[in-house]
This record gives sequence, C-alpha cells and structure tokens, in this order.
Amino acid sequence: MAYDVYKTITVSPLSPHLGAEISGVDLSKPLSNAQFDDIHQAFLKHHVIFFRDQTLTPEQHLAFGRRWGTLNVHPYVKSMAGYPEILEIIKEPSEKINFGGGWHSDMSFLEEPALGSILHAIEVPDVGGDTMFASQYAAWDVLSPGLRKTLESLRAIHSAAEEYGTGGASSKKRASMDSEVVGDEVPEYEHPVVRTHPETGRKGLYINPAFTLRFAGWTKKESRPLLEYLFEVCRREPFTCRFRWRPGSLAMWDNRCVWHFALNDYHGQRRHMRRVTVNGDKVR
Ligand code: SIN
Repeated sequence: MAYDVYKTITVSPLSPHLGAEISGVDLSKPLSNAQFDDIHQAFLKHHVIFFRDQTLTPEQHLAFGRRWGTLNVHPYVKSMAGYPEILEIIKEPSEKINFGGGWHSDMSFLEEPALGSILHAIEVPDVGGDTMFASQYAAWDVLSPGLRKTLESLRAIHSAAEEYGTGGASSKKRASMDSEVVGDEVPEYEHPVVRTHPETGRKGLYINPAFTLRFAGWTKKESRPLLEYLFEVCRREPFTCRFRWRPGSLAMWDNRCVWHFALNDYHGQRRHMRRVTVNGDKVR
C-alpha cells in the first residue's frame, strides 16, 4: 500500500480482516482528487467501505460510481426506470425471498466481472436486513501450501444458469424486481480459482456458491466436494464483517476479493436499496 494516512477522511476499521467506516466526506458533491485518492486507498486496504448519512440522487450515485470506472447494465435484471445503470433492490412486506440472499461475488458470471458494487440504502427495516461480507484474501491465506499449489493450477466455470436460467432461483422469486429468466442458453466463462488482485497484488480465492458451477475439465460431481470445502473456508466467521444499514448508508465492496450476503430476516417490512455496479477487467 502506498500510504495509510488519510488527508481528507477519517477511517474506522470494523473488523480485523475487512470493513471500515469512512466519515468526513459528502458523496453528493464532486470529489477532489485528494478525496478520491484517500477513499481509493481505504477501499484497497479494507475491501469494503461504509459511509453514513449520504443523501444522493440517482445522478449523484452514478457520478460517484463513474469515478471508479464504467458502469454495468445488468444483463438479466430490469433496471430502475430511466436509469439503466441502477438496480433497484426492493423487498416488499408481502415478499419472502430477497435479492442477494446467498454468498456471492457480483457478476462473476461475466467474462469481465464487476470491480465493485455501490449500494445505497433508501428505506430499511427497523431491525434486520443487514449485509455480511467475507474476505477472500483471508480464505486464501489460511490454506495449506499443498492445497494452494493445487488450486493455482485450476480454473473454474462461472455462469448465471442456476440463478437466471430455466428453473433457476430467479424464476421463483420476487414480484418487485423483474428479472428475465433467459432459458437454457446462459453463457459460461472460465476464471482462475486463485485471483491476483490487479491493484494490490494480493492473492485471494475467486469462486462463489451462486455462480461457480465446477472446475474446468472436471465434472460437477467431481468438483462438488472440493468446492464445498473451499466455500466453508471462504465464509468462516473470523473472515467476515456485518453492516447494519440506516437510511442514507452507502457501502462499496470490492468484488475481486470479497463475498457478500444480504440477510433475509425482516419479513413483513420493506427494504429498498439502489445499486450501481462498476465494471472490471478479465480475471488474472
Ligand atoms: C446484492 O447486491 O447482492 C444485494 C446486497 C444487499 O441488498 O444487501
């Protein structure tokens, strides 16, 4: 890391492996280069950063996202009306199933998966609806040298088939978030199982239960036991942090080294979030 002293913000870590709350900045205003550099350094160091009390219009949310790169238009889920690059993540009081309610890394089913996701809370339950995050660097660091050597030679197949394909989870889901169930022709992409972060140079596991189907060249049945073992390591409690939302809270996570999980423990209450997703590069 180039430096760890922030000139324009205050950074308070949330847990030893990941997560930090940032204060002293208003994201509705254009950021100076010094502010952006500080936020960027905190993001690389803590992998998921949180801000409180941010009042953002959709345009201001998009402008913050564009400081990080180009923005994604989700291939399967309908966008906010008039804003193709914003996903409205809504669970109505009458609904039972939420969006993102399982461990995953956003858009790993693309050839060039997402760099980061920026989630802004509009309306949240009185209690519940927290989001959990897990460091995939920490999962990698704890593995034995023997297993690491094996994993470094492996690639894995990612696809949205089990979410958005025929009979996938989205076909049974939410009334409030339209998603297109795309049939049997869901593309598959191959990524290395061990990812070297393009900015920090650190290694982390890059597989996830929602979108990783199997190891390349292995059958699904052959892949399952090793994937299940790795998934168990990837979500170990000491490698996680948990964020309690308030209206106006904003989180940005690094999909290159973090999993997340939207808890679904608030039936009967409404939760309304907006997500902007920053495009990433080919996984190396
Ligand atoms: C997601 O992007 O997976 C949803 C996260 C959340 O709603 O907390």
